[in-house]
Amino acid sequence: MSAASQQTRVLTGITTTGTPHLGNYVGAIKPAIAASQDPSVQSYYFLADLHALIKCQDPKRVQESRLEIAATWLALGLDTDNAIFYRQSDIPEIPELTWMLSCVCAKGLMNRAHAYKAAVAENESAGNQDPDKGITMGLFGYPVLMAADILMFNAHKVPVGRDQIQHIEMARDVGGRFNHLFKGEYFTLPEAVVDDEVAVLNGLDGRKMSKSYNNTIPLFVSEKKLLKLVRKIKTNSLEPGEPKDTEGCTLFQIYSAFATREEREAMRSEYANGIGWGEVKNRLFEHLDAQLREPRERYMALMEDPAHIESVLQKGAERARAEAAPLMDKLRYAVGLGRFV
Ligand code: TRP
Repeated sequence: MSAASQQTRVLTGITTTGTPHLGNYVGAIKPAIAASQDPSVQSYYFLADLHALIKCQDPKRVQESRLEIAATWLALGLDTDNAIFYRQSDIPEIPELTWMLSCVCAKGLMNRAHAYKAAVAENESAGNQDPDKGITMGLFGYPVLMAADILMFNAHKVPVGRDQIQHIEMARDVGGRFNHLFKGEYFTLPEAVVDDEVAVLNGLDGRKMSKSYNNTIPLFVSEKKLLKLVRKIKTNSLEPGEPKDTEGCTLFQIYSAFATREEREAMRSEYANGIGWGEVKNRLFEHLDAQLREPRERYMALMEDPAHIESVLQKGAERARAEAAPLMDKLRYAVGLGRFV
C-alpha cells in the first residue's frame, strides 16, 4: 500500500449561501484548518455550491458567497498543498454519481430525512392542502447529493454539526447498498465526527449565531462595523459595580472562544468584581480585532484578486478529479455502462 492510501481521509463541505461569521470560524473553519495540517490526514474541503442551489435562487448571492468562503479559508491559512480544496460544481463526476446512487436509494429513506420532514411539517401546520407544497426534488434528494460528495472520495471521517449526522448515516446506507447490489467494495462507508468540545457561539440576540436568525457577526467586517456589532450584543441590565454571571453570557462566551485559558479566567474575575458591560464590550472588541486584523487584510486582498482564487480552486478540482474520474469509470462498468470495446 502506498503512504497516501494509508492516510485517513477527512472530508467536509460548506454550503455557499452565506457570509462566514464568528460562529462558523470557531465551530468549523478553525478546527478544519488545524486538522488539515496533520500529516496523517488527507483532507478534502469543498464549496458545496450545488447544495447552495437547493435553498438559494439568487445567483448573485451564490456567486458572492462562493468567493467569500474561498477567500476566508485561504486568508485563515488553509494550506492548499496539503488539503484538496475545490468547488463541488467543478467535479462533473459528482452529479453523475448522484444519479447512480439515486437509482439504488429507497424513496422511503429520503421520506425520513429531517430537512424534508421539517418542510412537510411546516406545510401541515400552515394548513396547506398539499404537504409537499414548495418542496423541490433538490431538497428531497439532498442527502443523495451529499452521499455522492462523500463516497466519491472514499472519505473515512466527515466532521459535521449534529444536524448532519443523519445524512452521513444515509450515505453509509446508500453506499452499502451499492456495494451489495454490484458485488464489490466500491465505497468506503464514512463515519460522522461531531466534536462536542467545539464551542457553539451565540449571536447578537443571545440565540445560536446563525444566518437564519440574522444575528451574526461576520468574520471580516471593518473595524468600525465590528465595534458597532459588538456594542449591539444583548446583555442584562446590571450596572457597573454589580457582580455578573459568566454562565449564559454571550459576551463572555465569544470572548472565551478567542481567548487563552488565562485570559478567560482573568475575565471571569472581572465579572465577579462587577466590570461594566460597556467595558466588557470594549475589551471583546479589542481582543477580536487584534486577532482578526491580519487575516482581514489578507481577506481584503484576496477578494480583490478573484483570478488567484479561481486558479487555486482549479488546481484543487484537478486533484479531486484525478481521483473521481477513475472511480467513476469503474462504477460505469459496475452498473453496465462501460464502453463496448
Ligand atoms: N449539508 C452540509 C451542511 O449543510 C454541507 C455539505 C454538503 C457537506 N456536502 C457535504 C458536509 C459533504 C459534509 C460532507 O452543513
